Amino acid sequence: MEQNATPEIISHEEAPETGAARAAPKKVFVKTYGCQMNVYDSQRMADALAADGYRPTEAIEDADLVLLNTCHIREKAAEKVYSELGRIRRLKEERARNGRETVIGVAGCVAQAEGREILRRAPAVDLVIGPQTYHRLPSVVSRARGGEKIVETDYAIEDKFEHLPAPERKAVRSRGVTAFLTVQEGCDKFCTFCVVPYTRGSEVSRPVSQIVAEAERLAEAGVREVTLLGQNVNAWHGEGADGREWGLGELLFRLAEVPGIERLRYTTSHPRDMDDALIAAHRDLPKLMPYLHLPVQAGSDRILKAMNRRHTAKDYLRLIDRIRAARPDIAMSGDFIVGFPGETDADFEGTMRIVREVGYAQAFSFKYSPRPGTPGADMKDQVAEAVKNERLQRLQALLTEQQRSFAQSLVGTTIDLLLEKPGREAGQLVGRSPWLQPVIVDDGAGEIGDIVEVRIRQAGPNSLFADPVRSIDLGKARVATSKEEHV
Ligand code: 5AD
Ligand code: SF4
Repeated sequence: MEQNATPEIISHEEAPETGAARAAPKKVFVKTYGCQMNVYDSQRMADALAADGYRPTEAIEDADLVLLNTCHIREKAAEKVYSELGRIRRLKEERARNGRETVIGVAGCVAQAEGREILRRAPAVDLVIGPQTYHRLPSVVSRARGGEKIVETDYAIEDKFEHLPAPERKAVRSRGVTAFLTVQEGCDKFCTFCVVPYTRGSEVSRPVSQIVAEAERLAEAGVREVTLLGQNVNAWHGEGADGREWGLGELLFRLAEVPGIERLRYTTSHPRDMDDALIAAHRDLPKLMPYLHLPVQAGSDRILKAMNRRHTAKDYLRLIDRIRAARPDIAMSGDFIVGFPGETDADFEGTMRIVREVGYAQAFSFKYSPRPGTPGADMKDQVAEAVKNERLQRLQALLTEQQRSFAQSLVGTTIDLLLEKPGREAGQLVGRSPWLQPVIVDDGAGEIGDIVEVRIRQAGPNSLFADPVRSIDLGKARVATSKEEHV
């Protein structure tokens, strides 16, 4: 799930003409670990720095500023940061020999969780900045360039939402026709395995007006599909335009009215926050894609209780029945943890059972990783690594099989495809199905940003292959209409 979200190059001319931009065009390299919210945050950081004359680069050796946007969710993810910092220190020394200064920054959840400890373990680091303070990044960077070592992890998240720069239009264009939009941050659920409530703080929702303004800006820059982000996105709430309290369902209806936005998604949800209005949105809002990432983590009630999930396996299954009644073609996705403290063979069979009962189109599964400061780390009966490995293997075999059979069930059907970017091979375009799988088509199918009808020909292990439906006057007409409306 890790991704390098180095932002695409924005030319210097496109940055606002500040004195700093004219005098010193600097380059920034951003490496992003972990979740989609980090991808979004990396883009916002690049946007904030662009106003100071920083151009993104994908070549780390050219970078005057290197930012690692880190993940603390499992031990492996956090440790990777330190090995990367070792490599970057050598790079910094090499550049210094050539008379070039390099500022190294650590952002994200490791920054928030470990703060000053990072400077101790990796003295080449110049600045440590937590997720709630990114709006202060430009000033922190300029202080670091003056030789100061800075740790900025105090937070008042409302400040971040208030002061974060709007997505930069040219940068949005260069990032393509799909975009993330953070609507909520933080978590009050305190699952006993999870660091998020500590690293991202308590749940805060962004106001409707800010969210709508950002969606309009994205749409004007060519975005067709928006994925709303939040650690607990379906806990989002706020005062609606009608003065009533809205939940995510109402917000989705409002965003569907933004001209140019053709598709909506949201992630990640907690089963306890799936309310009736949100389920109704899946029934009544065609722009809401039929895909839902709804982690259950485990299938044994005893383990769910120890995890403090505050629902049973049966509650989850009943909820899925209601969602499927509202939107029968919905594809389910989930997260699973094997080897939580105290998990017996029988508990693990509960996880296998719930997976069989739900049938997932997509899933992420992990070995439990004890995280410092979380209740799970101090629990007795930690599960042996070998047992975790064996369970993970069995679970993943089942999930892979389900994923394959879901993809296979689409072969021969005609679907709407949002064309996103050129494919790996010449003459190809790649898009996403409504169920989020990558679909490869011939580039005669349409233009990037079009939604076209295609027939699925074949299902590969990671993507689907499709042919344009030639007699698609209806599909083409619909695309033409949406172009007229939105350009
Ligand atoms: N160990 C293993 N997996 C974890 N996750 C969260 N914390 C841990 C942990 N300590 C998983 C959960 C969550 C996903 C983002 O990461 O499944 O939904
Ligand atoms: Fe972590 Fe649980 Fe909150 Fe999800 S709901 S972010 S797993 S504490």
